Amino acid sequence: MRLFGPLRLNLFLFLISVNQVLLFLLIVTLCGILYKKVHKGTVLKNEADDDSGTPEELDDEIPVVICAAAGRMGAAMAAINSIYSNTDANILFYVVGLRNTLSRIRQVNNILRKWIEHSKLREINFKVVEFNPMVLKGKIRPDSARPELLQPLNFVRFYLPLLIHHHEKVIYLDDDVIVQGDIQELYDTALALGHAAAFSDDCDLPSLQDRHRLVGLQNTYMGYLDYRKQTIKDLGISPSTCSFNPGVIVANMTEWKHQRITKQLERWMQKNVEENLYSSSLGGEVATSPMLIVFHGKYSTINPLWHIRHLGWSPDTRYSEHFLQEAKLLHWNGRHKPWDFPSVHNDLWESWFVPDPAGIFKLSHQNS
Ligand SMILES: *[C@@H]1O[C@H](CO)[C@@H](O)[C@H](O)[C@H]1NC(C)=O
Repeated sequence: MRLFGPLRLNLFLFLISVNQVLLFLLIVTLCGILYKKVHKGTVLKNEADDDSGTPEELDDEIPVVICAAAGRMGAAMAAINSIYSNTDANILFYVVGLRNTLSRIRQVNNILRKWIEHSKLREINFKVVEFNPMVLKGKIRPDSARPELLQPLNFVRFYLPLLIHHHEKVIYLDDDVIVQGDIQELYDTALALGHAAAFSDDCDLPSLQDRHRLVGLQNTYMGYLDYRKQTIKDLGISPSTCSFNPGVIVANMTEWKHQRITKQLERWMQKNVEENLYSSSLGGEVATSPMLIVFHGKYSTINPLWHIRHLGWSPDTRYSEHFLQEAKLLHWNGRHKPWDFPSVHNDLWESWFVPDPAGIFKLSHQNS
């Protein structure tokens, strides 16, 4: 089963009229001629001197995976805008939408493409890809208290190697983030030998003041796993072990495949369906529990300033402005998203907002 595939609808529409078919053929021919010329040029250049730029530039490309769920595409667009505007690095964005046979959803994916092409984002390097939710069949419990968390796109991060073929290192970001630093810095996060990924520890919160503010938040395995279950006890992981947040991931695809991380994660999803292993009081993200098990003791850490989180936790607890200025990445995990009301620090989010050319996605205060 293919999980990801390019969108073909645009191409199809393009081919509808015969005139355009002819134009298309002409362009293909021209491209062919051009390709031959350029190709020849490179070969010759390679023979002349070793200093050929093109292939190396490809190596320098930073792949960034972000999901764009129907109804909150504006989130992904703001995140992409913030990343793109704060770096000189060559980014390739993988914008992942949900595959659905319903044509309505197809249209949503087209909206996504239009949003990028008809805004200031038109210069970005991107691929729109589809995630096939069929792959999750039998692996998700339907009885969650917060069904919106069961959005299949939450599980895209489990399948990164199926999406990324030509890069060893990749960044995955949740859609409810804003990047204020140069993403190259995050990409340069060192992964220790044998580690397939890096995350932010939930115990590394930068200052005492903020730690105090966050008292009551889950930051240990106990908050995610049901320690009354024998299968969980048998893992031998202390319930007071610090958890990590997989909303920002730097991953090594070689090591990921080598350790069969995807298979392991799927196994722990399946086990949860059979035995209900994960804490039902989960305030957090459903995709977290299997990752906590699979990556226990086997991950590198991300600089805490590269994952300042919990901005969506409560509509009335705020970080200090000074602290937020220093932050490299802000994450509105929690219920209170910055494009909705009520939420905090939404001014920081709105400054990266890219208006929807179709006028469908609106900020909460634009609704009335
Ligand atoms: C990724 O993992 C492989 C296999 O362990 C290793 O050889 C390689 O150096 C790693 N790459 C990075 C960028 O960490």
